[in-house]
Amino acid sequence: DLYNFRRIGPDTKVFGVVGNPVGHSKSPHMFNAAFKSVGFDGIYLPLLVDSLPNFLKTYSSTDFVGYSVTIPHKMAALECSEEVDPIAKAIEAVNCLVKRPSDGKLAGYNFDYVGAIEAIEEGLQEGGSIAPRSPLADKVFVVIGAGGAGKALAYGGKAKGAKVVIANRTLASAVDLASNVRGKAISLDELDDFAPEEGMILVNTTSVGMKPKIAETPISKKALKNYALVFDAVYTPKLTRLLKEAQETGAVIVYGTEMLANQAFRQYEKFTGLPAPKELMKEVLSKSTQ
Ligand code: ATR
Repeated sequence: DLYNFRRIGPDTKVFGVVGNPVGHSKSPHMFNAAFKSVGFDGIYLPLLVDSLPNFLKTYSSTDFVGYSVTIPHKMAALECSEEVDPIAKAIEAVNCLVKRPSDGKLAGYNFDYVGAIEAIEEGLQEGGSIAPRSPLADKVFVVIGAGGAGKALAYGGKAKGAKVVIANRTLASAVDLASNVRGKAISLDELDDFAPEEGMILVNTTSVGMKPKIAETPISKKALKNYALVFDAVYTPKLTRLLKEAQETGAVIVYGTEMLANQAFRQYEKFTGLPAPKELMKEVLSKSTQ
């Protein structure tokens, strides 16, 4: 029951997720169920796109009014935005494009950052009271990866006062990103021996461990003992090898589905101007990711 075709009419607003690959995306499930639950006249499609600029040019005069942007188009989406939210500009990546009703201009946002950081802060606060300052402040915050998601997480760590460390396969990209967030860059090879202190935070933003390569992990199990919390942006499978080993080592784990859900709520609110039906969207997501 992914689409409700009977409702499509001249006023139906069309949305989609642009990516490559995009077949695995859970966003159509979440958004269509949410639209239906409140009777919003909209439809949300998976859109397999090679070139984002060409796609946007081709469909500029259609009823498409908003896009979620995923791999590998988050940097191109920044270039294609006619207006950029300051946070997306600082991150240098856009994961949501919305056509402004007033003049049809495309506005770019980044909700990956807030989606992930919120989930991580909740993980750190579990059982405790909400502190006035972020539980990330002054913690060593290790980000694996320096692509679109890596940039968003690095920005988030920095914004919350953490000491950001970027570990990336291509060291040059880690160095670039680290200089933007006034952090430190290390190579992936150095990660296993990197232990300046205990109780660090680890976030994986690479696709390492994603289905079908579920036996892979970006860090040795032994090194996980230095981390109090581990977040994995990969959500297929939900429990990645990284998260499983982190759990066995005693760290708090935060699933990639949390970030996916949190950023989808923000996109939904931008797309529709309505509050997101969060519980329903989470339920749909959890059913489609088991
Ligand atoms: P996203 O927008 O989801 O962040 P991306 O921009 O394509 O995706 O970035 C992918 C990140 O995952 C990069 O940091 C990439 O490392 P490189 O900069 O060396 O390319 C990292 N990555 C992807 N596959 C990887 C692998 N098999 N091992 C290690 N790192 C990998």
